[in-house]
Amino acid sequence: MTDGPAGPSADNAPAGWTRSGSAADHSPTVPGSVAEWEEHYSGAEAVWSGNPNAALVAVVTEFDLAPGRSLDVGCGEGADVLWLAGRGWQATGIDLSETAIARARTAAERTGIRADFAVANLADWADDADEDSRPRRGGFDLVTGCFLHTRLPETRDELLTRLGELVAPGGRLVLISHAGVPPWAAGHGHAGTDAHEHEADDCSHDGGHSHDGFDFSTPEADFALLEAGGTGVWELNLGETRTRSVTGPDGTPVDLEDGLLVARKV
Ligand SMILES: C[S@@+](CC[C@H](N)C(=O)[O-])C[C@H]1O[C@@H](n2cnc3c(N)ncnc32)[C@H](O)[C@@H]1O
Repeated sequence: MTDGPAGPSADNAPAGWTRSGSAADHSPTVPGSVAEWEEHYSGAEAVWSGNPNAALVAVVTEFDLAPGRSLDVGCGEGADVLWLAGRGWQATGIDLSETAIARARTAAERTGIRADFAVANLADWADDADEDSRPRRGGFDLVTGCFLHTRLPETRDELLTRLGELVAPGGRLVLISHAGVPPWAAGHGHAGTDAHEHEADDCSHDGGHSHDGFDFSTPEADFALLEAGGTGVWELNLGETRTRSVTGPDGTPVDLEDGLLVARKV
């Protein structure tokens, strides 16, 4: 997620960081649905900070990735897409939320950076490729999913397959995911966050593990799902957990753990 000051308070948690079977049950909208994300984004002027995810910047830099076609799935307000586009990538971002995509487009106009944004659901986006002259499935040199803890598609294996089929031969998939619950989230029905935090409420996927009611996948488990998905032959470039220092809702510094997967389609 994108670091920075904008963001919800502890009592105004993002659509995620809600625990299955608790606060989410009281929501008028279905957890993880388009409606819930839309509600989440429209409830604040800006949900994320506008800065790119530090782990993504680190990966692109460490691997010295040459610009090509990139796709950010669940791009939110577009900071990662704009960062890549600013470095020469032909960058596209898709997100379920119209509000988030409108903000991404506004940010692109404001900064003069050229990037494509679309309101779309990964679960069916690549199916309408005929409407677009550019190939979507198998057309991207870099596919990113940052804190894409989603219920669309419903299972983690389907998610990895959907993402994997978008990557061109020789291209990479970069997944940055929550590896644990922030301290202020544990023991609550939902968790407040600042702009550093993202949703992770409902990742009860294959290969995941659970923390206090939250389920998480690991980079290793995600890679296994990717390999099993039939989207090609994959090579594991990086699978590790990294610590990120953030400021908690009460102003105190907290270390959070992010799972980082970088895989290359051979
Ligand atoms: C936790 S936010 C992360 C936003 C951004 N990647 C970041 O790091 O700041 C997850 C985003 O994924 C989007 N999303 C969830 N499921 C999706 C799907 N199936 N297709 C497209 N976007 C999706 C949500 O609307 C939300 O904006």
